[in-house]
Amino acid sequence: MISMVLDEGLAVASTPDSENGPAALKRSLLITIDGPAGAGKTTVSRRLAARLGYRYIDTGALYRGLAYAVKTAGVDYRDADALTKLFDDTHLRFRSASDGVHLLLNGVDITAHIRTPEMTMLASAVSAEAAARRFLLDLQRGMGAEKKAVFEGRDMGTIVFPEADVKFFLDAAAAVRAYRRYLETAGEGRQTLADVTADMHKRDQNDTRRKLAPLKPAEDAVRIDATGMDVEAVVAAMMAVIAEKCGA
Ligand code: DC
Repeated sequence: MISMVLDEGLAVASTPDSENGPAALKRSLLITIDGPAGAGKTTVSRRLAARLGYRYIDTGALYRGLAYAVKTAGVDYRDADALTKLFDDTHLRFRSASDGVHLLLNGVDITAHIRTPEMTMLASAVSAEAAARRFLLDLQRGMGAEKKAVFEGRDMGTIVFPEADVKFFLDAAAAVRAYRRYLETAGEGRQTLADVTADMHKRDQNDTRRKLAPLKPAEDAVRIDATGMDVEAVVAAMMAVIAEKCGA
């Protein structure tokens, strides 16, 4: 088994930064935010967690960490036995630093390497493999045991936390998602908008069509289309839903 240790680094817990958080704070909630790439999940999840004083858990980073382990070991991710063997000797952990959360693979900081276009696509491929999902399922559930957390991913509300207190599915028009992602990566000079759009389309297909834990909204998820909304408007909409569920 992969041994993955998560320290407080993953938990972007903070003092609630808003006067409109108390209703939720009276209860310990577990909140899930699922959705496709580029919908704004990460920014929204961070801000929502900060507002509530909750931990923020980026589960995509965990899959990216597994992908990096696969790549550096030179293993074919479609070879189930090789994958299991690799994971027996793999240790991943998060560590908090002044500039954010870092991901360590076997003690080496791999944070700077997991956001490349190559790792993005490999994470999507590796995430369809049973060995990867099995391990991260247990890990994520352990991390959610204490609640007071916002989990961001693809299968948080459907598979990992079917009993979550509040579930969101955040989506946006494909062209908007691709353009946002392009703006995020443009400074690195790596991909054109056409390349980002093509990769995103392929990843959407991988993530929604795979057999195991495909990306889809949970039946009881509140769906938000963020196409014409800025981050603050999305967070405000989520806070309103949370307040309502808390009976505020
Ligand atoms: O959120 P992200 O782009 O960092 O995620 C990278 C890949 O990881 C994504 O294409 C699918 C996979 N993933 C997943 O299968 N389940 C999750 N809960 C989170 C991510």
